[in-house]
Amino acid sequence: MNKPVIVLGAGGHASVLVDMLRSQGVVPLALVAPATGAPRAVLADIPLWHDEAQILTHHPDEVELINGIGSLPGNTLRAELFARYRALGYRFAGVVSTKAMISDYAVLEEGVQVMVGAIIQAGTRIGANSIINTGAIVDHDCHLGSDNHVAPGAVLSGGVVTGERVHIGTGAAVIQGISIDADAVVGAGATLTRPLGEKQIAYVARGSVMPIKQ
Ligand SMILES: CC(C)(COP(=O)(O)OP(=O)(O)OC[C@H]1O[C@@H](n2cnc3c(N)ncnc32)[C@H](O)[C@@H]1OP(=O)(O)O)[C@@H](O)C(=O)NCCC(=O)NCCS
Repeated sequence: MNKPVIVLGAGGHASVLVDMLRSQGVVPLALVAPATGAPRAVLADIPLWHDEAQILTHHPDEVELINGIGSLPGNTLRAELFARYRALGYRFAGVVSTKAMISDYAVLEEGVQVMVGAIIQAGTRIGANSIINTGAIVDHDCHLGSDNHVAPGAVLSGGVVTGERVHIGTGAAVIQGISIDADAVVGAGATLTRPLGEKQIAYVARGSVMPIKQ
């Protein structure tokens, strides 16, 4: 990172990113959040801006942004902030843990975040503003759309293709070659063996193999 960075958000996801940045010798210029959240040691010495307008006092050429807003099904704030500040000319820095394994033949688009222990294999493309979370595996030739979240410990086998804003829940597994359309959710712990349509949610419930709701 050649420019000072500003982190949007000051919660749990931001704290994990700042921890990774610190280990790479980067301390953000500021965090941006409307309210003061739970105290977190890793964020304690970084200025907190409550007014988002303070970002605009720094020209897009002077700084890079980091999206510290977490991502859960149905929560669109992370994607909205990315789109808003890109439209204003700001760029989002990617954050990649030095303890992740990423093939030289994988492509990470703008602002992708890859957490500790994640593995991304050859031929894979990860869409802008996506999170590959702690210990997740994205195997060969997967193509993920923008604003995806592969939650902690989830596994995508080879050749999985996803649309925009797809959420793969904690510990979920997707077999090879499956397509998952925009805004779909694979619930935590589910195993997906067939394609998932737009906005569908797949999860494993008691006494049922794979309910899907829309
Ligand atoms: C699948 C999911 C999206 C469903 O959310 P929801 O529609 O709000 O569902 P609810 O929480 O209202 O639960 C409805 C029922 O489904 C069950 N259920 C919810 N998610 C489930 C899951 N992943 N596996 C099995 N059962 C689940 C609930 O226990 C509840 O059962 P009940 O009616 O018998 O009490 C959500 O539970 C999920 O798995 N989210 C992903 C979480 C994640 O990945 N977090 C990452 C953080 S980094």
